[in-house]
Amino acid sequence: MVRFENVSKTYDGQQALSGVDFEAGRGELLFITGASGAGKSTLLKLIYRAIRPDEGTITVNGAAINGMGARHVPGLRRSIGVVFQDFRLLSGKTIYENVALAMRIRGAAERALKPQVMETLKMVGLRHKADCFPDTLSGGEQQRAVIARAIVAEPVLLLADEPTGNLDPDTSAGIMRIFKDINARGTTVIIATHNRDLYTGTGRRIMRLASGKIERLDVG
Ligand SMILES: Nc1ncnc2c1ncn2[C@@H]1O[C@H](COP(=O)(O)OP(=O)(O)OP(=O)(O)O)[C@@H](O)[C@H]1O
Ligand SMILES: [Mg+2]
Repeated sequence: MVRFENVSKTYDGQQALSGVDFEAGRGELLFITGASGAGKSTLLKLIYRAIRPDEGTITVNGAAINGMGARHVPGLRRSIGVVFQDFRLLSGKTIYENVALAMRIRGAAERALKPQVMETLKMVGLRHKADCFPDTLSGGEQQRAVIARAIVAEPVLLLADEPTGNLDPDTSAGIMRIFKDINARGTTVIIATHNRDLYTGTGRRIMRLASGKIERLDVG
């Protein structure tokens, strides 16, 4: 589903990733960990083509995305769900509307929308908050709404950057259960996190980055 071949990325001459090679298989749930500044967010942003590599080849769902023309980028992004820190909920819209918007921009028919949005809100335990505005939700509820927005259109790939940052252990475990459910439904999931609790005991692969390189691969 995702393949990096000798991928390097610098910011203003500073190396953020260097010579990264890995593959996340279709249907896999892969963790990326490593110290602050190790390159985790950079790696996820490269997959979403929010940024481009200096060197190497990145393949997502069969397409080489670094040479991809600008007109194909929206299509790439529509196939990916993202839980990124800088992708906040729209404060002027209800939770329902925030999630529905993710389907509307993908061209979903209004008729199909409502049941799917409500089903997804139920999955993340927010059905009763559908008509609330983001500001009236707790941090963990907002995070679950962001996840609902990322998964509502059934992406082939889900990228999550520190999805449980600042959340308590029970809420984090609940969020991890949602990711496992989505993965069980066939979505490939890649999660960047510092939180050992998320991957310990999962039996999933963990890719550890250190100073922009893959330091080692473990199994949780
Ligand atoms: N937009 C940017 N401009 C310049 N340097 C950047 C930029 N984004 C990241 N970097 C640098 O690239 C390196 C990798 O950053 P990245 O955000 O990928 O790390 P990270 O592993 O996600 O860290 P954290 O755990 O703190 O989120 C760091 O040294 C960082 O300072
Ligand atoms: Mg980061």
